[in-house]
Amino acid sequence: MTHRSEIRFLLNGRTVNLPTVPATQTLLDFLRLDRRLTGTKEGCAEGDCGACTVLVGRLHAGTLRYEAVNACIRFVASLDGCHVVTVEHLSGPDGALHPVQRAMVEHHGAQCGFCTPGIVMSLYALWMQTPEPTETQVETALQGNLCRCTGYAPIIRAAVAVGQYGTPEADHLTLERDRITAALLALKDARRVETGPEDNRAILPADLDDFAAAYAEHPQATVIAGATDVGLWVTKFLRPISPAIFIAHLAELKAIEVSPGAITLGAGVSYSELKPLITQHLPHLAEYWDRIAGWQVRNMGTIGGNIANGSPIGDTPPVLIALGAEVTLRHGNSRRSLPLEAFFVDYGKQDRRPGEFVESIRIPLPSSATRCAAAGISVTVEAGIIRSARIALGGMAATPKRAAAAEAALLGQPWSEASFAAAARAMSGDFAPLSDWRASAEYRMRVAQNLLRRFFLEQDGAPVRLSA
Ligand code: FES
Ligand code: FES
Repeated sequence: MTHRSEIRFLLNGRTVNLPTVPATQTLLDFLRLDRRLTGTKEGCAEGDCGACTVLVGRLHAGTLRYEAVNACIRFVASLDGCHVVTVEHLSGPDGALHPVQRAMVEHHGAQCGFCTPGIVMSLYALWMQTPEPTETQVETALQGNLCRCTGYAPIIRAAVAVGQYGTPEADHLTLERDRITAALLALKDARRVETGPEDNRAILPADLDDFAAAYAEHPQATVIAGATDVGLWVTKFLRPISPAIFIAHLAELKAIEVSPGAITLGAGVSYSELKPLITQHLPHLAEYWDRIAGWQVRNMGTIGGNIANGSPIGDTPPVLIALGAEVTLRHGNSRRSLPLEAFFVDYGKQDRRPGEFVESIRIPLPSSATRCAAAGISVTVEAGIIRSARIALGGMAATPKRAAAAEAALLGQPWSEASFAAAARAMSGDFAPLSDWRASAEYRMRVAQNLLRRFFLEQDGAPVRLSA
């Protein structure tokens, strides 16, 4: 079957057919410069402020799901087969305000108004999922939206009150759902898309096998899932990324399997998609999960991307290493699995051949004898004795790294404050952190040691006393 070169998606009420799309073209630029849909604002252009928030709807196993995303770091090529909804789509046929907008007006949720379209879109996404949100749910939904002048109290009051102005059942995205679903299904043709000029090429594989083939064929390509990091390479560093292989649409990489002993997830599963399972199976990570970036970034960013990116300060590697996670890498049709810590070889270097990619991640579920913390600590205690210890930290070395000496100091020792104090002392042999403008080496080490001591105190139920 021949490749397609056209990117096709729905924008508000219309189908868009773009004969050629450069890999680096962002949705925000497309909306504002090409379509003059200037309701969507540009603040930071790096996924931090939320002024550019739009909704993107995609079919997941035949069901249409909308998510709030940052248009500034979302590439147009990644929107093939999606429904993009901007703030302009909210008004009724007679120009009436949307319930979210009415609530914002009547609760004085805007002053200068620059952040307002983005906040309205985030609240719209929240209202569709949770029509009567709590204040905490509103705060979580607005983590990625900065407002410099109104203050959040009126905005939160508006968000909690939206239900008084209308219901999601009567909303036009609900009423249009069948038509939009049919239109998106009609856009699917199971073909690979290759588009853009030779020096700014975008490739959208037809399926996972096609991705493996395309990456083996173009091992120098930039693989883009959520674009929450690569987006900044483009908007901040103007880095070329061609050829870019987009993979966020691949259903196989979204698979999640829960067995009695482990969760296995495709590398394309986003933070938001994993959140319900985190809450259910790994509750020690639930609060931490909501602290990773803002909602829009969690909707886009993937666990596989966070690993493959190789950052020494990635959010997930320390907690996953502490749980004993493994990654499966694939090159063409061959696969291999390795412990996650072994994947990180050195700064900017991973155990990954050209053309090889992270396909899935297996996270063992802790037993009832295992105590875990989001600091990257997992300790199994039997009859009062520490039988296993896994401690992994980020930002302390060139890679996310286990604290081997601290772990060894705990093994076979009684579950006691003295054991953890000894392990904290041993940790000074595990890392030689750097000093830079963010933190001195001494400070980093002190925090790491205190996290270990705090782990014991919290698990033991004692009041936490952090000391030098
Ligand atoms: Fe700030 Fe997009 S412009 S998040
Ligand atoms: Fe001015 Fe929010 S109303 S930035």
